[in-house]
Order: sequence, then C-alpha cells, then structure tokens
Amino acid sequence: MTDTDRIIGRTEVNDIEQILMISNTDVDATVRAVADNADAIFTWDYGKGQRPALERLYEKAKTSQWNGETDLDWSIEVDQEAVVVANMAANNRGAGLDVAGTLFEKWGDKEWTELGVQSQNWTLSQFMHGEQGALVCTAKIVETVPWIDAKYYAATQVMDEARHVEVFAKYLNTKLSGHYPINAHLQMLLDDIVGDSRWDMTYLGMQIMVEGLALAAFGFMHQMTTEPLLKQLLRYVMSDEARHVAFGVLSLKEYYQDLTQAELRERQEFAFEAAVRMRDRLLQQEVWDRMGVPVKEAVTVIMQDPGQQLFQQMLFAKIVPNCKKLGLLDAGDGWLRERFTEIGVIDFEHMPDTEEEYETFALAQGEVASLA
Ligand SMILES: [Fe+2]
Ligand SMILES: [Fe+2]
Repeated sequence: MTDTDRIIGRTEVNDIEQILMISNTDVDATVRAVADNADAIFTWDYGKGQRPALERLYEKAKTSQWNGETDLDWSIEVDQEAVVVANMAANNRGAGLDVAGTLFEKWGDKEWTELGVQSQNWTLSQFMHGEQGALVCTAKIVETVPWIDAKYYAATQVMDEARHVEVFAKYLNTKLSGHYPINAHLQMLLDDIVGDSRWDMTYLGMQIMVEGLALAAFGFMHQMTTEPLLKQLLRYVMSDEARHVAFGVLSLKEYYQDLTQAELRERQEFAFEAAVRMRDRLLQQEVWDRMGVPVKEAVTVIMQDPGQQLFQQMLFAKIVPNCKKLGLLDAGDGWLRERFTEIGVIDFEHMPDTEEEYETFALAQGEVASLA
C-alpha cells in the first residue's frame, strides 16, 4: 500500500472517478454531530503576555472588530446574472478552454451564464460552511490549548468566525439565488480536524490549511469580482483571516520545536491529506449534478482549462510558505516537499509567509465605520 493510499484512500491523487464517488448522502439533515475527542484544559497560569507575539495579536484583534450588519452596505442591489456576465468579460475566464467535441460545444451564453450563477451559489455556500467549521474549531481551541495568551486570542477568533458565517449567510440569502449543502470532501476534512484529540492538529487543519486556502481564495475573488458589496465583504473578512493564519503559524512554530521526527511526520501527513481534500472539493461536482450535466465528462473537460489549473495552484500560495515556516516541508526526509511537488504547488515556497505579512491585510482606521 502506498502512502497516498493509506492517507487519502486512493492510489492516484488525480483519479477523478474515485474523487467523484464520494458525495454528500445526507443533504436533508439539519444538524450533524461529530465527536471531538478532547479534554477541556483549564490553566491556572494567568500570566498574560508570556507569549508576546500572541498577546500583540490579541490586542490587535480587540481593536479590529467590525460589524457585519452596519459596516457593509447591504443597500447595494445585486443583479446576479449581470454580475456573472460582467465578471466573465472582465476576467476572460475559460478563454483557453478548447470545447470542440465536448458537451460544451453546443453551449451558448445562456448556459455559460447559468453555470456562472450556480458556481457562485456553490462557492459562497462552501465558504459559509467552511466558516462554520472555523467557528467550531476555534471554540475547540479555546478549550484545548494550554496557554492563556492563546485562549485569549482564540476567543476573539470565535467572534470573528461568527461574523463571517453571518455575512456569508446574509449575502447568500439576500443577494444570490440558492444554497448548496456542504461538499463531502470539505465535510470529511472538517470531521477529521474536529475529531482529532491533539490540540495542535486543530490549528494545523484549520488555521494553516483551511484558512490558508481561504485567504488565497478570498483574495482571488476579491480581485476578480466586479460586485462592490462582495468586494467590500471579502476585504473585511480577509483582514481577519490573515490574523487567524498568523495565530496558527505563531503557535505551531513554538510547539513543533519540541516534537520528534515521528510526530512531525504525522503532521506532514495530516497537511497532505487536508491539501488533497481541499483540491477534491474544487471539482464542484454538485454544480454539474444540479445543472443536469454528466459530471465526469464535465469535470474532465474543465480540468484541461489552463485558467482553472492556475486558479487551483494559486490557492496554495499561502499554505506552502506557511508549512515551510513551520519546518513541515523539510522535516525528516522532506516527505511533504515531495508531495507538494507532485501536486504542482511547491513553487509557492518562496512567497511571503503569513506571520510576516498579516499586518498588510489590516483595515485602515476610517476604512470601517466601527473602527473609526
Ligand atoms: Fe473566517
Ligand atoms: Fe478565520
């Protein structure tokens, strides 16, 4: 059995058939229970500022709170179809896609616009579910992390994540045209993160991997969208997310220093598993299903699009340098470096890590009414 088999349950990372076999079979459920397998840790050491970098982050978080109801201009009207058309025109997406001989050959503007609409409903729905994952994971960190400075900081992140779930849900409900249930690959990943008993694994799964990808994805969408309310919403959310990723890097950098090679290898494998689950969800299989298009055929064509390939790789622009900063790329025999090379994202190792760049995402005084 290969490492890939053991960790993600298939031999070939890019085996589309295997990826599509995993789907959400519980789409009508209103709640989902996941055992979190961890003790809640009290600390009697209340000495604030023993970890100065975490204390700084906590103080920063306290003065960076914004209000999703009043700081965003919800009076902006969104004509979703018009936005999809404008976004396509502005970004030239799909221009390199060769549809000759495929099911897309007969598609006209109407079908491509419908795909854009469904794709946006799906993407924002997954963001919303991922934000709830962050809300739950960070609440767990408040319980399980043994350091008082980290408990304080994580408490501010819980509030941030509540706000993120709130604004994505409101945007979906009032400006877009439908919800999607959580993607099964994203759910598997969140289940794994929540279910792990070790407190540092929550950080690695959520703050480094999921939020690292989110920070890149929000950045991409922020740049791409022509819709002013979404642009503003993403700008605010990103200012929080950058702090969250920095929290992960700062905490794990200290903790990993004392781990054995065998323990680091477990972290490398967990990071790789998370990376693959997040890539798998990008096939957005539920969109094709809802549009009545043969899923495997559609995915196979879309995966050939150079724009799509570039987009998928860019999502790792934050994850790879942060894993490097933590020593995870090269620990042991460089196992994770090899895996990231195989999935084509290793070139991002030289990008800035988020411990260094998080302050560049901060909102300026006056940019947000509630901070002024
Ligand atoms: Fe968030
Ligand atoms: Fe976050």
